[in-house]
Amino acid sequence: MAQDTLTITDNRTNLTYSFPIEKETVRAMDFRQIKTGPEDFGLMTYDPAFMNTASCRSSITFIDGERGILRYRGYPIEVLAEHCSFLEVAYLIVFGDLPNEVELKNWTNEITHHTMLHETTKKFMEGFRYDAHPMAMLVSTVAALSTVYPEARDIHDTNNRLRQIKRLIGKMPSIAAMSYRHSLGFPYVYPDNDLNYAENFMNMLWKMVEPKYVANPVLARALDILFILHADHEQNCSANVARSVGSAHADPYLTTAAAAAALSGPLHGGANEEVLKMLDEIGSKDNVPAYVKKVKDGHGKLMGFGHRVYKNYDPRAKIIKWTAEQVFQVTGRNPKLDVALELERIALEDDYFIKRKLYPNVDFYSGIIYQAMSFKPEMFTVLFAIPRTVGWLAQWQEMLTDSEQKIARPRQIYTGHDVREFLPMEKRASAPAAAD
Ligand code: ACO
Repeated sequence: MAQDTLTITDNRTNLTYSFPIEKETVRAMDFRQIKTGPEDFGLMTYDPAFMNTASCRSSITFIDGERGILRYRGYPIEVLAEHCSFLEVAYLIVFGDLPNEVELKNWTNEITHHTMLHETTKKFMEGFRYDAHPMAMLVSTVAALSTVYPEARDIHDTNNRLRQIKRLIGKMPSIAAMSYRHSLGFPYVYPDNDLNYAENFMNMLWKMVEPKYVANPVLARALDILFILHADHEQNCSANVARSVGSAHADPYLTTAAAAAALSGPLHGGANEEVLKMLDEIGSKDNVPAYVKKVKDGHGKLMGFGHRVYKNYDPRAKIIKWTAEQVFQVTGRNPKLDVALELERIALEDDYFIKRKLYPNVDFYSGIIYQAMSFKPEMFTVLFAIPRTVGWLAQWQEMLTDSEQKIARPRQIYTGHDVREFLPMEKRASAPAAAD
């Protein structure tokens, strides 16, 4: 018998089955052969929250959570963050290889030409309340782009797909900046095609009456690095949503909006906003031990700590810490950094966190940088969504071109009633009267 197989004996029938093992994985569908009789549906696997289920094959991002390794298309994140621009990395993620000079020039040119938004988007944005959460504005506005580009529904046309990918990468900063200016009551700023991706975003955020916005190069590079770090992260919650919604052949705008909605949750991308709230609540270094004790006693979580995949230091958090030092040389040191460093120090020495392998994740330090750059915490997840759009679209495209993929549709273990007798209204037990 070949070695790369799994042999299972079903003790109900004493029958033995052998299944191939490929890349440390067995196929869940093989288990359906395991039956007690011809009427039996066959065995299923039960895996709430996908703790141990591979839902796809992917060649985009590699993570080794035990060793704290992250690579896009084979390149270590540290190397990309040091040597590349965000659009260079976006090209790599979408196409699979780093661009040469001409390819990067053309790609940059094309993305830059898609930064303008249709004028109706302004009217749409004006409809939001002044205090609407920027993430909710972003999700709704991205979905609304579906009404502007109905041709995007032709998802099987490779060129059409690519056009929408470029549009979305180009327009995301414009929508994000609009939502920011809306919440401040400032007029919207049009993109400036002379500027690079991060600089142009800063221009749309912060330009006031000066004729030409000039971005601080250290802050622009820091933002670009943060974009690189957030560009993809294999099958995370929002990428899984992008694949799942996309598997029903929804258009890329609605698919991206759905993924962004998942990102907004505090257990996912929304954690960076929660970290700042937590650091505010802690207030000073002296209060850290009491806060950690509270968490260990089961009252809340240490936001920005823990990860489904990383059981070691998140490699992105290391780069963010380094980037924070560069930013603080321009903006001055954010005093919250000292509270965060103390929190990390105490948590990493504590048995509770050591035993559970809980380390700082990407969200732990990013908010401190964003705040030093003068962003409000409500904007933090929006800043995450801009680069992650690249990952969502690469995952979406990979899913659509994978002949093994179909509409995503899990099974369930039904725990409800067996068939019940219907009772007409007059025979149903009367409910207690509703309280005033
Ligand atoms: N603080 C305190 N305890 C924690 C934390 C935390 N941040 N995270 C996990 N734990 C504990 C759990 O209570 C659990 O303890 P138990 O075994 O005694 O029940 C154990 O560690 C395992 O945690 P799970 O919740 O089972 O781990 P899971 O993989 O399901 O969750 C998650 C991962 C959601 C990221 C979790 O660690 C968490 O909620 N962290 C805080 C939110 C956060 O920072 N999210 C951002 C993640 S990165 C990203 O999405 C971009």
